[in-house]
Amino acid sequence: MVTEALEALKPRPGGRYADGTIGGGGHAAIILAASSPTGWLFGCDRDGDAVEAARARLAEFAGRCEIRQGNFAELADWVPTASCDGVLLDLGVSSRQLDSAERGFSFQHDGPLDMRMDTRQPLTAAELVNGADADELAKIFAELGGERDARRLAKAIVRSREKQKFETTRQLAELIESISPRHGKRAHPATKVFQSLRIAVNDELGSLKRGLAAVMKILKPGGRLAVITFHSLEDRLVKDFGRARSRDYTFTGGVDVPELREPRVPELKWVTRKALRPGEAELADNPRSRSAQLRVMERI
Ligand SMILES: C[S@@+](CC[C@H](N)C(=O)[O-])C[C@H]1O[C@@H](n2cnc3c(N)ncnc32)[C@H](O)[C@@H]1O
Repeated sequence: MVTEALEALKPRPGGRYADGTIGGGGHAAIILAASSPTGWLFGCDRDGDAVEAARARLAEFAGRCEIRQGNFAELADWVPTASCDGVLLDLGVSSRQLDSAERGFSFQHDGPLDMRMDTRQPLTAAELVNGADADELAKIFAELGGERDARRLAKAIVRSREKQKFETTRQLAELIESISPRHGKRAHPATKVFQSLRIAVNDELGSLKRGLAAVMKILKPGGRLAVITFHSLEDRLVKDFGRARSRDYTFTGGVDVPELREPRVPELKWVTRKALRPGEAELADNPRSRSAQLRVMERI
């Protein structure tokens, strides 16, 4: 997926690029190498550890990149307007985040119930799980995780936390497993609850919405945006954004009535309107890519 995303961005010598999810800097390094000797990269990540790792990884490109800790929703606050030939957003969590128990993203490792990408923000998963009422929790599990047992699980959490607050990932995973046993299913019964809490704690959908709007400001005409998403809510948001901005008309009131359309010049066009999915080889090599989808757009 990333290979295809980088191919679509076509980094070229002297080009200017932004990586809004720089992670360990692997993809940024490929962009910087391809844009040698004078290309430039603006990079950010919400995660301070990722920023440190990216800075170390990209030391050989010092003087050709600027890396900051921050949300890609704020890219337009520091990246010059209409300056970029390409922007990459490789959403979700990194393997480094998932695999480190103390970050609390995974039920596979016991750690504090944290899940913050940016550890400077006050809201943690523990606060949400111990503080939100049953309706709010059920809404998060159902809407952001597609959890069918959302209400039952939310009520059980509220009952359980009256006796003992949730502090660790294992505590929460065990409670969920005791209510929704695995019964031979492939996925762990806590998968959807953990995903939904992570999305809520990090306001991932709100960030993506604001991030897409920010990217429109920093892309040059002809510049491309490649977005890799990992669940259907994100992908729908990207698809709807692309559709709305590639239309040659607008409409108000949320309903598209042909007689009430206002003509306007579209802001972008699709490069890959249909989402690309990983092939067999990538799936075999990286099973975590199974839900990845890539969409690419070009600024007009
Ligand atoms: C799949 S990893 C990216 C890996 C990266 N492409 C690389 O080469 O290592 C996703 C990264 O995006 C970051 N992230 C997710 N949402 C973000 C946001 N709204 N703003 C900035 N970074 C974000 C995460 O902290 C994580 O490091």
